[in-house]
Amino acid sequence: MKILLLGSGGREHALAWSMRHSPRARRLYALPGSDAIATLAEPIGADPCDPAQVLEAAGHIHPDLVVIGPEAPLAAGVSDALRARGYAVFGPSQAAAQLESSKIFAKQFMQQHGIPTARAEACETLAAARRALGGYSFPLVIKADGLAAGKGVVVAADAAEAEAALAAMFGGKLGAAGQRVLVEECLAGEEVSLLALCDGERYELLPPAQDHKRVFAGDTGPNTGGMGAYSIDSLLSPELRQQIAERVVRPALAGMRAAGTPFQGVLYCGLMLTAAGPRVLEFNVRFGDPETQALLIRAEGDLVEALAAAAAGRLAPQALRFSRVAGACVVLASGGYPGSFEKGLPIHGLEQAARRAGVMIFHAGTALHQQQWVTNGGRVLGIAAAGNSLAQALERCYAAAEEVRFEGMHYRRDIGRGRLAAHQPAAS
Ligand code: AMP
Ligand code: GLY
Repeated sequence: MKILLLGSGGREHALAWSMRHSPRARRLYALPGSDAIATLAEPIGADPCDPAQVLEAAGHIHPDLVVIGPEAPLAAGVSDALRARGYAVFGPSQAAAQLESSKIFAKQFMQQHGIPTARAEACETLAAARRALGGYSFPLVIKADGLAAGKGVVVAADAAEAEAALAAMFGGKLGAAGQRVLVEECLAGEEVSLLALCDGERYELLPPAQDHKRVFAGDTGPNTGGMGAYSIDSLLSPELRQQIAERVVRPALAGMRAAGTPFQGVLYCGLMLTAAGPRVLEFNVRFGDPETQALLIRAEGDLVEALAAAAAGRLAPQALRFSRVAGACVVLASGGYPGSFEKGLPIHGLEQAARRAGVMIFHAGTALHQQQWVTNGGRVLGIAAAGNSLAQALERCYAAAEEVRFEGMHYRRDIGRGRLAAHQPAAS
């Protein structure tokens, strides 16, 4: 098969790496890819969010499968444009991608289909949002309706913070994404990401994963795209997993089908495990980043086969197997991230780090300048490792992370630690 992968981040590096292992992947192309992805796939310089450019590239390549990594091309209708020309695409239509591209759409859809989620009110104006605040106690959550690259959710501790968030959103800080908002009840509990491969009708749950969104240890500091993740089956009991399948994934797929917009691709359920049961915080319509790195490092089986089957509407059970007990990914970030940061700083120690057993280094924001890897983004590298226990996977990640150096580099040293502490006697 000839496969065209859209995207350029750490998630796409992991997807490319995993697809490269497939005997079915005869040629792999990445649009636009990155210097790191170019070691696995032939790069195509084009804009992945412009349907015309993607169609033109596809016209040259004739891919047997197009895999769309990020949400922006999905929201821009790139999958529809490709399908209209007869290409097999892994990734939902623009209409189905509204589950991520509009939080108001997603909330109304969940309410309509009885999918458990936080109570919320959709507000079209600043005045309406201010009025809605009265119906909730603090802390409460304010969410921009549209895509905001992780910056669209504010947990407001008091009225002043809520007012500031609303003023920023309706004042245009997030562009069109913030011109409508949700005012939402704040839920407490442990967060889990559960991803399902979907073919429009059937689904296959992947193992659960947990992301660490705050920039600093102990879940402090501002939100980021994700500072690390791990995956281990025991994050969810079999009963909870079953409950989420039946109360969330199944009705979501049935609802989308009934609306004439069947969901095909990854349905990413961001869940809060509350005392009253699991609640959906958000849907995403694509693989998570960095959850995917922590998941794929555990995976066995043929990712190309699984994605092609989903794209063709013939997903088979156990399309992917996860034989390793645990996977983890620790993100090494630029100094200043998630605020402003410098680019072009040389990265040292990559080769030594990569030689460690069970470790794979996924590049999120790097570039190759005259044979030297340099930083080129906020999240620079994801150090991923599999293990026979979560402790082993994490030890491998951190041992490899210590080999890597670049000016200003920082990372969280507590990825997965809460889970380790919950299952082991406290260390002295
Ligand atoms: P999102 O951008 O939708 O992924 O939300 C970002 C983060 O905000 C989530 O991962 C949660 O940590 C937090 N969050 C979103 N909704 C709620 C809620 N209703 N209650 C508490 N935290 C929330
Ligand atoms: N890791 C969170 C996300 O991919 O949205």
